[in-house]
Amino acid sequence: MSNVVISTYCLILTAQLCYSVCLHDSAQQDTDVVSPPAVVSHARMFRRSTTWEPQLPLRVTPWYLPGESALLTPSQSTQLQSAMREVTQIISNMLSVHRSEGPLLLNRDMNKYCRSVWGDPSLLNYKRCGSRDISYHGERCLDVVIPDSHLHGYEVWPMNDTKPDHVTPDGTGVPNTDFLLYIRVAQTEKCALHPSVIAYASYCQLDHSGRPIAGVMVFCPKHLRDGVNRHQHVVQVCLHEILHALGFSSSLFEHWIDCSFSGHGCSSRSRVTNTDETGQLRVYTPNVMQRMGNHLGVGSVGAPLENQQENQISSHWESRIMQGSILLASLSPPHLTSLDPITLAAFQDMGWYGVNTSIDNRLVWGKGAGVHFGLPSTCLERLEGFFCRDEGDIGCHHLHLDKGNCSTDAFMDGCRIYKPLLHGGECWLNQENQESDEIYHHQSRCFLSNLTKEMEDEKVKGRCYLHRCLAPNTYQIKVRGSEWTDCPAGRRIEVKGFHGVLLCPDGRLCLGFDQAPAPTSVFTTTPFYSLFSQRPIQEIRVQLTIEKNLKWTTEIKKILTEEILGVIAQHIGVQRCLLQASTVLDKDLSFLLKVGEPNNCHPHPTGTSPHALIMKLIDNPVTYMSPQFSTITIRILSSGSHDHILSHLGLIGGCSGALLCAVLTLAVCWCKHRARVLQVRDIYHSQP
Ligand SMILES: *[C@@H]1O[C@H](CO)[C@@H](O)[C@H](O)[C@H]1NC(C)=O
Ligand SMILES: *[C@@H]1O[C@H](CO)[C@@H](O)[C@H](O)[C@H]1NC(C)=O
Ligand SMILES: *[C@@H]1O[C@H](CO)[C@@H](O)[C@H](O)[C@H]1NC(C)=O
Ligand SMILES: *[C@@H]1O[C@H](CO)[C@@H](O)[C@H](O)[C@H]1NC(C)=O
Repeated sequence: MSNVVISTYCLILTAQLCYSVCLHDSAQQDTDVVSPPAVVSHARMFRRSTTWEPQLPLRVTPWYLPGESALLTPSQSTQLQSAMREVTQIISNMLSVHRSEGPLLLNRDMNKYCRSVWGDPSLLNYKRCGSRDISYHGERCLDVVIPDSHLHGYEVWPMNDTKPDHVTPDGTGVPNTDFLLYIRVAQTEKCALHPSVIAYASYCQLDHSGRPIAGVMVFCPKHLRDGVNRHQHVVQVCLHEILHALGFSSSLFEHWIDCSFSGHGCSSRSRVTNTDETGQLRVYTPNVMQRMGNHLGVGSVGAPLENQQENQISSHWESRIMQGSILLASLSPPHLTSLDPITLAAFQDMGWYGVNTSIDNRLVWGKGAGVHFGLPSTCLERLEGFFCRDEGDIGCHHLHLDKGNCSTDAFMDGCRIYKPLLHGGECWLNQENQESDEIYHHQSRCFLSNLTKEMEDEKVKGRCYLHRCLAPNTYQIKVRGSEWTDCPAGRRIEVKGFHGVLLCPDGRLCLGFDQAPAPTSVFTTTPFYSLFSQRPIQEIRVQLTIEKNLKWTTEIKKILTEEILGVIAQHIGVQRCLLQASTVLDKDLSFLLKVGEPNNCHPHPTGTSPHALIMKLIDNPVTYMSPQFSTITIRILSSGSHDHILSHLGLIGGCSGALLCAVLTLAVCWCKHRARVLQVRDIYHSQP
């Protein structure tokens, strides 16, 4: 019973904070893999026939099985397809291949369609199929039946004749495709056994060089159904799974090839993984070793794999040493995860792909910490600014976007790290909070501190304060009510007006690692309609244009309105709680937006009137791709109060076009708020 409660809580409240397990290894074990007949299983050399051709972006084609998506509503399907589009875009940005000519055709497994093969070398049809297996029902990719139109044909030959007995012709194939991904939505046994799993994938066909050319991704429908604003989470899981299917799979390690030497061939890499003297399994390929060495600040070292299951090579990096990587067995929330350089290096070393080296997602965890970083035997003593000691201790996640809870999991081998709090630890998420001196804002980060206005002793723990960058690794901080205060990296500071100290992290902030997510990708935990202003300033009409037709239920209107408010807040840089919808979204897709400063919402840190900021949107509609509702354009119409302002100026009759109105309104606002705008400039341009 408590399991049910926890998972529901996870899904509804903090969907992006659930940790998912990955079922790739187990799905792969259940998948029959077919290679082209030409590949003799022990061939060591592969002809590189296309060296002179340029490598072009990898085209992943998702193939949605007809009928299966009946499990989803049209809007859920749209959401899924939009996540897949994003993932295929990331992949084609990252990987390139020598494309083969013509449409992609998959292979049939001769052992399945053929019952016997002519075995006498003197025969004309030596090695050809001599009799058909009448029980043959085509090919599968895990449990997806591959359409005949995607498959090569096959022939059955008489003993000594030039005409085949039976011909199944080639299918038409799938055009413009380098990797075909069957998408299945089904409540499979695996989904049922692992309720936290959103999707899993495996590959089922290899080309002559061993590169996967087809695979399947299974979505567990429960998550797509319950999903609200889980877009980034779904994208992350799809990306993780597709990376397995494209090559980062323990079952493919032995297929990785080395194409580095000149000449026309690639050779099979004899062995990709090995165990080091401490018993840690590692990937030893050239780019991986070099990049891992760079990262830890040592010469060159193999990259560690998860050693969870004995006697089984994992398809994931070691959690203790690679926190933040997209290829961990236990994924962190999307905004704390990246396509890290070691993973990119592994794709280089597979030999099948060109890898876009300008993707520059640095790994922060363990940076420069040396070759002995993260050993289970020492991680509770040598914290090195990464690990933590006391279970339940509240500190900061290592990227300092979120507060963290010192804890461990099945993959940490007893080491403890600050994991992002399940609820309410997102310093970067604009929200009201009860704890006095903290500020939750897009520009806030987590700091270890015991700052307090009171005289009593405070425990040092993770707290959220504003920060602003002055230069790389150089920043200032602001506690509620304090001035901006320099925070020299690596030092502890005091803040005027407060007792206690604050620790300024070194090498973590203002280096481009800590990107707070856009509000559309997260679930705002602020209850709808609860923060509304006691002191409204202005009302503004907001008009939406939506590309797709939606079925308007009250629920959808609420979700959409909430999303729009988040987007506006993000776009103009004000706290979300300053905005409220004072009317329900009407038939013309417009609603009235009220801008106010409710008592429980912190003053806007820049001091500018949010209303003035919103008015800037009059001439500049915001268009964005909503995770759930297709492309949306937000326009601010002439303000609810503009008649009032204009009538003061005696201009109301003369205002004919909306543009003129807008210009006048802006002018009025500009005058009204000039003093405050200047103040903003002072804050942002003053030298420390
Ligand atoms: C490589 O990645 C960069 C940064 O993401 C991107 O701007 C560029 O278009 C990519 N190159 C290719 C060929 O996809
Ligand atoms: C098959 O044909 C080849 C020549 O085409 C001939 O030498 C051979 O004897 C034939 N074998 C049988 C079993 O008919
Ligand atoms: C931190 O994690 C522990 C379990 O490891 C849990 O009991 C505790 O409630 C968590 N604290 C917070 C604030 O989330
Ligand atoms: C804050 O922490 C420091 C270092 O642990 C300690 O010396 C100081 O007394 C604490 N101050 C308050 C106000 O709790």
